[in-house]
Amino acid sequence: MPAPAGATFAARYPSELEVDALAADGTVVRIRPIRPDDALALVEFHGRLSPETVYLRFFSAHPRLSPREVTRFTVVDYLDRLALVVEADNTLVAIGRYDATGRDGEAEVAFVVADLYHHLGLGTLLLEHLADAARTRGIRSFVADTLAQNGPMLQMFRAAGFRVACHHDDLDLVRVTFPIEATDELVKAVGLRRHTAEQRFIDRL
Ligand SMILES: CC(C)(COP(=O)(O)OP(=O)(O)OC[C@H]1O[C@@H](n2cnc3c(N)ncnc32)[C@H](O)[C@@H]1OP(=O)(O)O)[C@@H](O)C(=O)NCCC(=O)NCCS
Repeated sequence: MPAPAGATFAARYPSELEVDALAADGTVVRIRPIRPDDALALVEFHGRLSPETVYLRFFSAHPRLSPREVTRFTVVDYLDRLALVVEADNTLVAIGRYDATGRDGEAEVAFVVADLYHHLGLGTLLLEHLADAARTRGIRSFVADTLAQNGPMLQMFRAAGFRVACHHDDLDLVRVTFPIEATDELVKAVGLRRHTAEQRFIDRL
C-alpha cells in the first residue's frame, strides 16, 4: 500500500526500476528513478530546453527552476510521488513524473523531453515505465492537464495504447484521463514499439 502523502520516512531508492531501454531509433538509453543528487543535472537540463518546450510543460515562460522546485522535483518518496529520468550518453534528456492526487487511486503525470530528443519514443517509454511502477504502488489511473495546442502530448497519450478520455474544461486546457491497467491493447502496443526499436537497434549494428 502506498504511504500517505507527506509521510515522514526514509524513502527507499527503488533500484529495481533502473533499466536500459531502446529509443525508437534503436539507441540504448538508461531509465532510472530521479535522485536528490540530480539537482544540478535538472537545472542544466531545464536551462537547455527551448522556450516553447518550457511553455508547454509549465504553461508560462519559466526560464529557471526555483530552488524549491528543484527540491520538489528531485526529492520524491518513490511511492505517492515518483519521477523517472532518461539518460543518453550520461546526460539527462527526459523526465516523467507522477504525483498522487489524493483522489481514489489517481495520480497526475507530467513529461518533458529535451528538444533534440523529441520523437524518439522517450516520452512514451517514460509513460510505460511510470505506469508499470504506479500499478504496483496502488495507482490505478493517470490524469494530465495539457494545453489544447499541445498536439504532440495529446498524440503521445493516444498512441501509447491506453484508453484515453479528453475533457475540454476551458478553451486552453485539455484534461486527459486514463486507467493504467495492462490491457491486451496496451501490451500489444508496447510489444510493437519494442519490436520496431529492436529492428532499428539491429540495423544500427
Ligand atoms: C510531449 C512530449 C513529452 C512528447 O515526447 P516525445 O519523446 O517526443 O514523444 P514520443 O517520441 O514518445 O512519441 C512521439 C511519437 O513516437 C512514436 N513512438 C514511440 N515509441 C516508438 C517506437 N518504439 N517505435 C516507433 N514509434 C514510436 C509515437 O507513437 C509517436 O508517434 P508520432 O510522432 O507519429 O506522433 C515532448 O514533445 C515534450 O517534452 N514536449 C514539451 C513538454 C510538454 O509538452 N509536456 C506536457 C505537459 S504534461
